Parts: sequence; C-alpha cells; structure tokens
Amino acid sequence: MARLLNTSHLALHSGIRLFTDRTTKIRIKEMDKTLLQHGFDMNLVEQTATPFYYYDMDILSETLQEIQRQTRGYPFTVHYALKANGNPHILKVIANHGLGADLVSGGEVKAAIEAGFDPKEMTFSGVGKTDWEIKLGLENNMGCFNVESIPELEIINQLAAEMGMKANIAFRVNPDIDAHTHKYITTGTADNKFGIGIEVLEQTVMHALALPNIHLRGLHFHIGSQITMMQPYAMLCDTINDLLDFYDERGIHFEMINVGGGLGIDYTEPDQHPIPDFDQYFGTFKRQLRLRPGQRLHFELGRAIVGGCGSLISRITFVKESRNKRFIILDAGMTDLIRPALYQAHHEVQNLTAEPGSPTKTYDVVGPVCESSDVFAQDRALPVSHRGDIVAIRSAGAYGESMASQYNMRQLPSCVFANDKYYKKSRI
Ligand code: LLP
Repeated sequence: MARLLNTSHLALHSGIRLFTDRTTKIRIKEMDKTLLQHGFDMNLVEQTATPFYYYDMDILSETLQEIQRQTRGYPFTVHYALKANGNPHILKVIANHGLGADLVSGGEVKAAIEAGFDPKEMTFSGVGKTDWEIKLGLENNMGCFNVESIPELEIINQLAAEMGMKANIAFRVNPDIDAHTHKYITTGTADNKFGIGIEVLEQTVMHALALPNIHLRGLHFHIGSQITMMQPYAMLCDTINDLLDFYDERGIHFEMINVGGGLGIDYTEPDQHPIPDFDQYFGTFKRQLRLRPGQRLHFELGRAIVGGCGSLISRITFVKESRNKRFIILDAGMTDLIRPALYQAHHEVQNLTAEPGSPTKTYDVVGPVCESSDVFAQDRALPVSHRGDIVAIRSAGAYGESMASQYNMRQLPSCVFANDKYYKKSRI
C-alpha cells in the first residue's frame, strides 16, 4: 500500500511562535534535547513542514566567538558578507557580536541597518553600484565604498559633492592571483570583471587624492571564495607588502587594508570541522602582512561565518528506480540550494530517519524541479531509504537561503533556529 506522508504533527500548533518576514519563520522557544540524530533536534525536525532551513545557533555563536578570540588584541575588523545569508535573525546575532557588514546592494544596506550593524563599519562593494545605492550609502555615512573603476569614483565624487560631504572609499585592486577555486567564484585574476588592475593603480590613486569629495582610506582585495589552502592568501600578503612599500616611498599612507573574504569550509566532513580553521587563516595575515603603525586590517567573511550552521531539511517524496539508476526524489530542489547545480558543489547528504545500522545502497539525490541539473548528489551511498524519510543536506548556511528562488512557482522554505540562546535571552 502506498505510504502517505505524515504531516499531521506540523509545528504550527502548541508552544511554537510563528512570524513572517520574507518567508514564514518558525522559532522554537524551548527545545527537548532528548532526540538528537546527527546533532539535529529530531523533535524540532519532525514537527516542521519540509523543506526548511535548520540553523544551529550554537554553531553560529561558537564560530563568532572563535573569530573574536582570534582577532582580539590585533588591529583587525571582521565584516560579515551579507550575501552569504541575509536572514534577519542571523544578521541580528552577528551584529550583536560586534562584526561590521560587507554589502553589495541597496537591499543589503537596508537589511544591515535594520539588523543594527554600525554604518561606520560597513563596506559597500560591487562593480555596478547604481546612483540610488551610492546615495543610500552616503546618507548613512558608510565606512567605506570599495570602488572598482574610475567612472564609479567620479560618480561617487559627484554625488557626494551634491550632498555636501566626503565619501570614504578604498580601491578594490585586482591582484591577479589565482585562488584555485571554482571558476565561477574566482575573482582576483586579470580576466575577471572585478577591481582595478595594479598597473593603473598609481594613476587612479593620484586621481582620487585630487578629488575634493573623496576621502581615500585604503586598498581592498578579494581573490575568490571557498579557499581552503592558505597559499593564495600568503601570496596576497606579499603583493600588499610590495604595494605598501611602493606607496611609502611616495609618502602616501593608507589607514586601512581590506583583504576581502573567501575562507572556505569543510563540505565533506561538516561534523568533524563545523568551524573553519581561523587560527591558520588569521595567522597567515598576522605573520605575513607588514601592517604600518595605525593601519587597520579588514576582512569580509561570509561562508566561513554561516556555512556550517545551516542545513536544508527535506522529506523523501519518492524512491524511484530506472534502468541504470536509483533516485531519491526530495521535496527540496535546486531552488532551495542551487550550489550543486551551479558549481557542481559537494554537500553531505544524511538520512536522519533511516533505521540505525541499515545497509546502504547507491542513490542519486534529486529535487522535483523541471531541470536536469536539479541534482544534489550523484552515486551517493546512503542507508536504504524510503518515502517519508527525512534527509539533511549539510553546510547549507551560506549561499543557500540567500540564493533561493521561486522558479516553478515554488514556495520559499521556512527556517527554524535550534539552540537559540540569543533569542531566549532577548525574550527574558
Ligand atoms: N567580499 C567580496 C568582495 C565578495 O565578492 C565576496 C563573495 C565576499 C567578500 C564573501 O566571500 P566568502 O567569504 O563568502 O567566500 N555563491 C558562491 C559564492 C560567491 C561569492 C561571491 N563573493 C557559492 O555558493 O559558493
């Protein structure tokens, strides 16, 4: 007999508060930790309508505390790159830990202000800032525009003049360093659209110094994303050291250097390494970069902050066998986590409700969207799985919810926040 999915115990009833902003969000006030599977609160998981994003707020806080520990006593400012995850609750938690914000659109500027980030610690990047976005940044007296071209510099100068103010800027320099990551997320080579080439930097700097409504604060770099080897960062430090020597000789001092983001996470062993190796990462800059007295070093981390705390939780709609393949068809699709389809990215898949010790079979794990690329995993060994089982797609905290779409007129997933101490504290 066909198995009907049991959704009668959805969390829309007792003890759970619902509120809506971009999507329907569900927060759980008290948690029963008795039922944990792969670290998930199974009461919470089984009560919630799938698909949804499950955020483990303990992992988020521990990640933020580790960043605080690693940067304490150094002239370092870490900005959170909102593009990785703009969920309002997550933003509030990060803002509360004192991080700055790295923004790439007017929408992100508004979200960061709403979440309580300090405008003085906001950086605004992007090759194509429109006039209203620049004005919004100026109105809020934003800490720094990361400027990517001369036309952009001139428009910022003009808009700042019209508003009777000086705009704080840094030049985004393209250091021509290959970060050896996926071609869609490499940004620091000469063929990318990003940044100003080193060969024209000096004339660009001189130009900016002559503009009346520009305050040139420093230089900005970002070489790519999901970088797990420290060597590209060490090369970046060498490039910056050379540039600082060059400008010292010309009597030009920068008050800040921004090395962007890009630190990767462990997608294959999320439980062994839920928090990235910040010691190695910050250590590379502590050892290799010769900051000048009074100079501050800025970072713009996205994935490394939120990647590990999120999972996409989904229910198996059907298990289907074809001539050559065995498919697990989920109720989550590429619309909820596009990384595997777009970058062939690996995400661990776990069956949270399989019988313990059950044998494994090889499956392709796919979504319901009408695209052949709607595949989360291929030829993956998973416990024997059935319709109705609950599956976690791990490491979905970064670029999951923020890249979600409604293609096929699908509903956006809801969110749950497990271990939400901050929320509980803020309610007392
Ligand atoms: N700063 C700038 C100027 C950036 O362009 C980015 C990311 C970041 C900081 C933050 O990078 P993160 O620390 O998160 O690596 N959707 C892709 C990633 C695109 C990253 C774009 N820029 C993915 O899912 O892998």
